[in-house]
Amino acid sequence: MDTLTIRRPDDWHLHLRDGDMLRAVAPASAQFGRAIIMPNLVPPVVTGAQAAEYRDRITAAGFARPLMTLYLTEDTDPADVVAAHRDGIVTAVKLYPAGATTNSASGVRDFDRVRPVLAAMEDAGVPLCIHGETTDGDVFDREAAFLDRTLAPLRAAHPALKITLEHVTTSEAVQFVRGHDNIGATITVQHLMANRTTMLSHGMRPHFYCLPILKRDTHQAALRQAATSGEAKFFLGTDSAPHPTHAKEATCCAAGCFTAPHALACYAHVFEEEGALDRLEAFASLNGPAHYGLPPNDETVTLTKGPALDLPERIETNGQAVTLFDPGHALHWHVTA
Ligand code: NCD
Ligand code: ZN
Repeated sequence: MDTLTIRRPDDWHLHLRDGDMLRAVAPASAQFGRAIIMPNLVPPVVTGAQAAEYRDRITAAGFARPLMTLYLTEDTDPADVVAAHRDGIVTAVKLYPAGATTNSASGVRDFDRVRPVLAAMEDAGVPLCIHGETTDGDVFDREAAFLDRTLAPLRAAHPALKITLEHVTTSEAVQFVRGHDNIGATITVQHLMANRTTMLSHGMRPHFYCLPILKRDTHQAALRQAATSGEAKFFLGTDSAPHPTHAKEATCCAAGCFTAPHALACYAHVFEEEGALDRLEAFASLNGPAHYGLPPNDETVTLTKGPALDLPERIETNGQAVTLFDPGHALHWHVTA
């Protein structure tokens, strides 16, 4: 198969940042129709009014169809969340355990304090996106620990709450999602293409460092199987998370991989390796909208296999560079229409 036409994909987990960085990276997501925009700015996007203002900055920067989220804090007002969702300003709410990842200091420490807002979201049909990691314990075990300690009780307490477990990285997470109702999962480029050995075995490669951290190859295999299975619970979310190159190539490296410009080529590469190109459309363009109760995009994109993609090593913002994720091999799928 050398050409493939599918409904236009969406990106169900994207960081666009703000200011100069937003203006530099927003056009890079043009291959996607819609994108769920993460709210972990500094300060975070916590109210419907802030989400509406951020949405307008994103569209002005050149990404036309952002789907906004609110950052859940222990002070989040349930009525504001429900109103912002009812008015079409926000699509979902994002839960970060406090301290789990980049710009998560305002997240949730005491889950009892967000019970009222979770109950209101469950009643009103507002989806919850979750960064599923504990903030203590071995860094490679934090996702699995979160499933047992936090997600299982939360799932039981709010059975009708629609949950997206973001950027799953382990076979345990895949099993959890398969075994529970009303929960889907996004899977990133880097977790399909790499594992912790890729990141750490021939020198330490900061551009593979993201959170949740890459796990061992058996987990990577489970993610590749889940993504390419066609199962409706798994869908595309790049978690493209740009940081200035100097913050990645640093003594204390920032977490995040910048994959937006070539994400579709990467996903197509993985699906071809798995002999599953016929299931790329489900993962990239159909399962996500179905999970969020939205129609798939009307337009299509055509992917054509050709010579190695000529990608820049980095893009320039106003005075700062952002380095593209490099899987370590050539990519051959071009988005031609
Ligand atoms: C994200 C970021 O930089 O905002 N980083 C990452 O490693 N994925 C935050 C996140 O999604 O965890
Ligand atoms: Zn993210």
